[in-house]
Amino acid sequence: MLRPPYSKYDRLFVYHLDTIDIPEISDPDFIGTWHEDNNGIIFFHTNKDEFMAALCKAHHCTIVYQADLSYEDWDAGQAITPFTVGTLTVGPVWDGEGADIVLDPSVVFGSGFHPTTRTCLQMVNKYTTTPELQIKSMLDLGTGTGLLAIGAAKQGTMVQACDNNPLACKVARANAIRNQVESHITVSEIDLRTETPKTQGIDLVVANIHPELLQQLFSTPSFWQGNLYIFSGFMTSMEPELLAHLDTRSVKFLERTRTGKWCVWVVAPETSAFLSG
Ligand SMILES: C[S@@+](CC[C@H](N)C(=O)[O-])C[C@H]1O[C@@H](n2cnc3c(N)ncnc32)[C@H](O)[C@@H]1O
Repeated sequence: MLRPPYSKYDRLFVYHLDTIDIPEISDPDFIGTWHEDNNGIIFFHTNKDEFMAALCKAHHCTIVYQADLSYEDWDAGQAITPFTVGTLTVGPVWDGEGADIVLDPSVVFGSGFHPTTRTCLQMVNKYTTTPELQIKSMLDLGTGTGLLAIGAAKQGTMVQACDNNPLACKVARANAIRNQVESHITVSEIDLRTETPKTQGIDLVVANIHPELLQQLFSTPSFWQGNLYIFSGFMTSMEPELLAHLDTRSVKFLERTRTGKWCVWVVAPETSAFLSG
């Protein structure tokens, strides 16, 4: 996350350790820590070879990989600049003056520059601004930066967001506060592989997550108690496999969009209150 004296990202210095048992780091150049399988991944704004050597010595761990890259390369070679989706303008903290949503994209997914995020935000904005639907509650599964949650909260929707990446949870909470919607968003650290979210009474469920997780959710009957679902995180080539896990007789496709090779589905179960009107 951005902390003074930093107000934007320039270069990223990334250290992968052979442990997830990483001590608290209070260094001013520190951005955040991820866990991936059994590796801890630490991000800094500047070269921290000496700091990391000392940390490894003190904590009996080893750097197994390290990288120094530009922030644009981290975000698939794209500069993060302001953009508009539906009724919302979004800008990064360093270029967000006057935007409806001002985002610290940090080093987690959800800057708005991936086609899945962009199209999901467009759908979230479309359905939360449709007066007949009155979308009051939303689940944001795999929230990343929290952008989709904030997009809905800006329309007055109460959002329960979750992610299994502790840094994503921290970034999403900080972004909710930055955008004055913290009273509308709760962020929980949840692993969707082991915990199925409760969808009963939820108007909108958004899941931009990898296809294996979607397959697992699709196959869980209790997952289908919400009213409307937006799914993404998969490519056209993965659609047949996903469809095989979906009981297509008990859901109705409202939209199926493609941006390049990336798909977004909007689906309502036959039991949805939104279909009965
Ligand atoms: C493709 S990103 C989407 C982020 C954001 N919602 C967006 O649309 O840009 C998927 C998110 O799901 C999270 N995730 C991956 N596996 C997960 C799991 N097992 N449980 C919960 N969240 C998970 C990742 O950490 C990541 O933030």
